[in-house]
Amino acid sequence: MKDLTPDPASLDPIEIASRDEIAALQLERLKKTLDHAYANTPFYRASFDAAGVHPDDLNGLEDLAKFPFTVKTDLRDHYPFGLFAVPREQVARLHASSGTTGKPTVVGYTKGDIDVWAEVVARSIRASGGRSGDIVHVAYGYGLFTGGLGAHYGAEKLGCTVVPVSGGMTPRQVTLISDFKPNVIMVTPSYMLAILDEFRAQGVDPRACSLDVGIFGAEPWTNAMRGEIEQAFDMHAVDIYGLSEIIGPGVANECVETKDGLHIWEDHFYPEVIDPKTGEPVADGEKGELVFTSLTKEALPIIRYRTRDLTRLLPGTARSMRRMEKITGRSDDMIILRGVNLFPSQIEEHILNVDGLTPHYQIVLSRENRMDEMTIHVEAAAGAAGDDARKASAAQLTRAIKGTIGVSAKIEVTEPGGVDRSQGKAVRVVDKRTGD
Ligand code: DLL
Repeated sequence: MKDLTPDPASLDPIEIASRDEIAALQLERLKKTLDHAYANTPFYRASFDAAGVHPDDLNGLEDLAKFPFTVKTDLRDHYPFGLFAVPREQVARLHASSGTTGKPTVVGYTKGDIDVWAEVVARSIRASGGRSGDIVHVAYGYGLFTGGLGAHYGAEKLGCTVVPVSGGMTPRQVTLISDFKPNVIMVTPSYMLAILDEFRAQGVDPRACSLDVGIFGAEPWTNAMRGEIEQAFDMHAVDIYGLSEIIGPGVANECVETKDGLHIWEDHFYPEVIDPKTGEPVADGEKGELVFTSLTKEALPIIRYRTRDLTRLLPGTARSMRRMEKITGRSDDMIILRGVNLFPSQIEEHILNVDGLTPHYQIVLSRENRMDEMTIHVEAAAGAAGDDARKASAAQLTRAIKGTIGVSAKIEVTEPGGVDRSQGKAVRVVDKRTGD
């Protein structure tokens, strides 16, 4: 593998600034963000007032802990544009991701927000070992999902040649990689494994391909998977993290020279880790739920957003900014299936709408041929247990899930009583996927 350590002169000065400089910038930006949110978003004004806090109460970074959290349902409850802090006309772009029910959570960006986003993604690609002049193959999905366009604008900003392939059509991915000879690929790690299988199916040697680095994220992946991909392609595999509510990809990224966790771009996103049960902040180094406050966002300033992702904060290494450990899990039941986020409650809603099915169900996640599969075991109602009736219910459920959530699910309609009854809290999701 090539040594891709970036030239220190190419870094943004703040990446290697002193902790004092970073903290001073954060405090200044945090004050502005709280003022902006309080003045322009009725939701924040009401929630700050209810908690008895005012932006003027922030004198140091630690005072942020006095402010209330924001959660995913707050975005849904103000669907679609209710949390925007600028007039709609100033919103240049919308993206959306799954909410806990059918309604997506909608996020908006001003032109300035899109510039900041491109900048943090450009910084992420550079940290991963990419540089101006590289060819970047973007196989994250384009569309409402932030992966494709987020990667795209960042790669352009860094001065790269972007190949906006999006996901799917796996044989064509291999052809384009072989013919255009990209240095960098940006894709979910699970889809990279499917591309690897396609290389092998076509008899093309992945180690001989042009890729020097892959920038993988949007779903959890392990160091074991890193090892497999690096070995198979003879390239670096680097972790990128982000979420739509905060901006999209590019909130944090590993550095190729250390690969020891993800440096959070703390000049734009202020991290805290809290105890998910009590909501109290924990010290750096202790594990808990990651919470972010945006420091520069205009259209959708976001205060103490509970990501539900579990990790811990660690001191900087290759950069002065703090790192977060690779995400190990979530404190809610969100499923990430082939990069698509979904909640069991969304599946449940559809089950309840199909005649002939009961609300007894279990979702089994597995990995077949390296692709995530979702099988929904659901019970037929007593009067609808014949073969034909079960097939019809299964077909209706498949269509409803594909049509709204956008993923294909296998449906197994069992006899009445065929789904295990819980002894307490229902186990709705059984995840049999391993790390690789
Ligand atoms: O997944 C943004 C993204 C696109 C990140 C491309 C990286 C690359 P959402 O669809 O809103 O946004 O999903 C956000 O995905 O809260 C995590 O649970 C999970 N996630 C994202 N990156 C990682 C990662 C995009 N590197 C949710 N490791 C987050 C583990 C990740 N989980």
